[in-house]
This record gives sequence, structure tokens and C-alpha cells, in this order.
Amino acid sequence: MKLGILISGRGSNMLAIAEAIENGTIPNAEIAVVISDKPSAQGLIKAMEKGIKTQAIPLSGRLREEHDAEIVAELKNRDVELVCLAGYMRLLSKDFIRSFPNQIINIHPSLLPSFKGLDAQKQAFDYGVKFTGCTVHFVDEELDHGAIIAQKVVEVNDNDTSETLSARILENEHALYIEAIAKIVAGNYEIIERKVKFTAETQRRGED
Ligand code: GAR
Repeated sequence: MKLGILISGRGSNMLAIAEAIENGTIPNAEIAVVISDKPSAQGLIKAMEKGIKTQAIPLSGRLREEHDAEIVAELKNRDVELVCLAGYMRLLSKDFIRSFPNQIINIHPSLLPSFKGLDAQKQAFDYGVKFTGCTVHFVDEELDHGAIIAQKVVEVNDNDTSETLSARILENEHALYIEAIAKIVAGNYEIIERKVKFTAETQRRGED
């Protein structure tokens, strides 16, 4: 399956995915392109160093719809079947989402539906929760809202700062995103209402 990864910055999730493909943890997948809306994104350099095709597609004062249309065209040109948002800090237009129905996934650094939007780790830390985490979900037309594929819980320690907590969430993001992409690529799932059910797992559990 050809993946297109969208980033805006550091690109550590993108790199974790690339390494998981390299070492066989995500079988039957390849990264067709890494696209960033920020030409200076560190992640673009990291992807290039790995020999991955990269493309900077900045907004350049255009309407979101025009910008998204260029990104969609690039993804379609490269036969991308799964779009992975990995720290892509722009909302996608309806047309973008409709061009890839149930084929766009995102990682968010909180246990959704808590703490949507920007700085989710700090929002959770400031709120004083004892547990937070990360979520991989399908992207729909509402912010941080689509059907949940996988979640991981991270405990907040008394001596945490927002930064130490973010770092621990990030480590868990890498593992969770890899696991979720491997499952989506394997394709043994169905989405019933908001519920993503992995049929292969259900069968394995049944055999236990
Ligand atoms: C990650 O923590 C990701 O969950 C978050 O941005 C960071 C990107 O880091 N995404 C969002 O907050 C999206 N709402 P990375 O560039 O090193 O992967």
C-alpha cells in the first residue's frame, strides 16, 4: 500500500513510520511521498536523508481549497491509498477529505475526545488529569473527531512538567501510530458507526 505522509515540522512520527516500514514492522507498505506545507520543516530533511520523495507545498496566500487541491493532485499522482497526518498542523478542506474517504488517518497527542486542537499535551497537563495519552483516528470533517483506530494511555507523574509529559506521550505516539498503520494496511477491519472493529483480532481472540 502506498502511503502519503503530511507533516508541518519535526517529523518524528514520520521517521518512526519510515523505520517501521524498513524493518518490516509495517509489512506491505511504502512511503510514496512526504509532503509539508512548511518548506523549512525539519522532517523534510530527515525524509530526504532516508531517500524518501519529498514535496513542499506551501499555502502561499491561497485559499485552503486551492492549496488542498494541489496536495490531493500530488497524492493521486503518486497513487497514494492511505494519507497519514503526522504533525500536519492545518485543517483539511471537505474536498480533500472526500477525495480520500476513510483513507486519511491522524495522530493526536491526547485521549480523544478530551483536549482537541492545539497543544493537547499542555491542555491535559494544565487541567491536572492523572492520565492522558494519544489517539490514532480516521479524519472526518470535524476537528479531531473521526472514528478511533487505537489509543494508548500515559500516566501523568507528580514531577512531570508539560515538556516531560509531551516527550513521554511522543514515544508512545510512535509505537501507537506504527501499530495502527500496520493494522489498517493489513485491512482486516470494518467501521460500524463510529466503531473500528479489527476482524482478525476478533477471530484470534475467539480461538484462544
Ligand atoms: C505530535 O505530538 C503529534 O501528535 C502532534 O504534533 C506532534 C508532531 O510531532 N499533532 C497534533 O497536535 C495534531 N493535532 P512530530 O512532527 O515529531 O511527529
